[in-house]
Amino acid sequence: MAKRIITESSRTLMEYRLLPGYTSVDCSPDSISLRTPLVYSEDNKKKYYLNVPLVSAAMQSVSGARMGIELAKLGGTAFLFCSQTIESEANMVKKVKNHKAGFVKPQKMKIDMKVKEMFEIRKRSGHSTFPVVDDNGLFLGLISKWDYDISLHSDCLIKERMINKENIEVGINITDLKEANNALLESHKSILPILDDQGKLVSMVFRKDINDQLDFPLEVHDENKRLVSVAAINTHDHKERVEALVKSGVDVLAIDSSDGYTQYQADAIKWINENYPAIPVIGGNIITKEGFRFLVEAGAKAIKVGMGGGSICITQEQKGTGRGLATTIIDVVEERDKYFTETGKYIPIAADGGVTSTKDVTIALALGADYVMMGRYFARMDESPTDKIVVNNRVMKPYWGEGSARAQNWKARRYNQGKFVEGVEGLVEYAGHLRDNLEETLAKIKSSMGTCGAMNIPEFHQLAELEVVSALSIREGKPHDIFVGTENTDNNEYNSSE
Ligand code: IMP
Repeated sequence: MAKRIITESSRTLMEYRLLPGYTSVDCSPDSISLRTPLVYSEDNKKKYYLNVPLVSAAMQSVSGARMGIELAKLGGTAFLFCSQTIESEANMVKKVKNHKAGFVKPQKMKIDMKVKEMFEIRKRSGHSTFPVVDDNGLFLGLISKWDYDISLHSDCLIKERMINKENIEVGINITDLKEANNALLESHKSILPILDDQGKLVSMVFRKDINDQLDFPLEVHDENKRLVSVAAINTHDHKERVEALVKSGVDVLAIDSSDGYTQYQADAIKWINENYPAIPVIGGNIITKEGFRFLVEAGAKAIKVGMGGGSICITQEQKGTGRGLATTIIDVVEERDKYFTETGKYIPIAADGGVTSTKDVTIALALGADYVMMGRYFARMDESPTDKIVVNNRVMKPYWGEGSARAQNWKARRYNQGKFVEGVEGLVEYAGHLRDNLEETLAKIKSSMGTCGAMNIPEFHQLAELEVVSALSIREGKPHDIFVGTENTDNNEYNSSE
């Protein structure tokens, strides 16, 4: 006989709806706060809070340095993936920590490269202006799309078409964006290369970016105004990896595992707490009260919950393990609240896997999660590490699981067996800029919170009233009995853009 058999079905986020609560005039979207703790910390440092409750998944196709930078600027954070060499992950952390808003580190060209080689890089990167440097990094000039015509100059060398440094205004050792902006205004130019004392190129400032770059009120940064960086680790090479990540300035570590209720994970957490007590570790994934208690007692400072629900996940099919994310959150949150009453320590919970739309995010938060981790949602955006491709006239981006064949070429993988896959590889529809997507998503979350009368996430946890809905109600909640475009919605699933 099994140790435990639960006969009630576990439920997904899709099966819940919120009931409205009283909304006062104070509860307007502008006054609702989405601030939420990233990890428990005794000293309550600001850098351990997110200003929006969204984090991107530790996956090759989702969270590279660019996502790490852009999401932190907008109030969330990316969990940089660990299925890569220690050196390359440490470099990603450095890029996030050393990022200076508005100071772009562009790809550099050499004078003897052919214009057609640069044109290929331009097509891939989408950038149209490149600095030209010598072998020692000394700045020699700029080449932009106005300086050549690919049909005429493809075999020319860059040095034949570039604008030489003598004709370019540069800034020396400028580190303040407002100062760079003033220098740009005075130069009447749109690009300012920033050089060091020796004339080496450090970065470039583009006038078109400046207003945007000065406007990140929700940015998550440390006490030195450097963006917060979270990096995933595994339980195989963590000793060497953590050392390198800490040297690069990482703020928080997160163990990336599909099953965190293991001795490996407890040992890794204890080892990090002993050797790097200043760096909080996030544990997971677990889906039961027992798993939560086990990891928290081992020293985890936040817990990721969820198994089997990810959009690329086939764990449930392959192994029969998993649980609906809503039931997981309800169960684990109950234990988290009990632990809080016992110890006074509030351990944040991240809901992870299968959160596909904003309403799922809202339900996860209402059920007691502190923030939500998503892969598919972020994979669709410009800031994910993959290139866009066009399939049947639709712009797509590749997205694959960390347990898929594509990611399993990495030795210290999340899914350790190696004999079978637990994830798939596919395509997701390209969705544009992170900032535009987040604006809409956050507006919807705030609107739902307002409907429930909650001014912030802790209040949302207390005030939310939820109800399970039937399959017929879910159907009724979509457009029905009308024609959308040329399709009768009675017979066709209405697909939201999310
Ligand atoms: P999504 O937001 O529904 O796309 O799910 C992303 C989450 O799926 C990640 O944060 C991981 O927890 C999980 N995940 C990532 N790769 C795999 C895999 O290959 N198999 C199963 N789950 C995965």
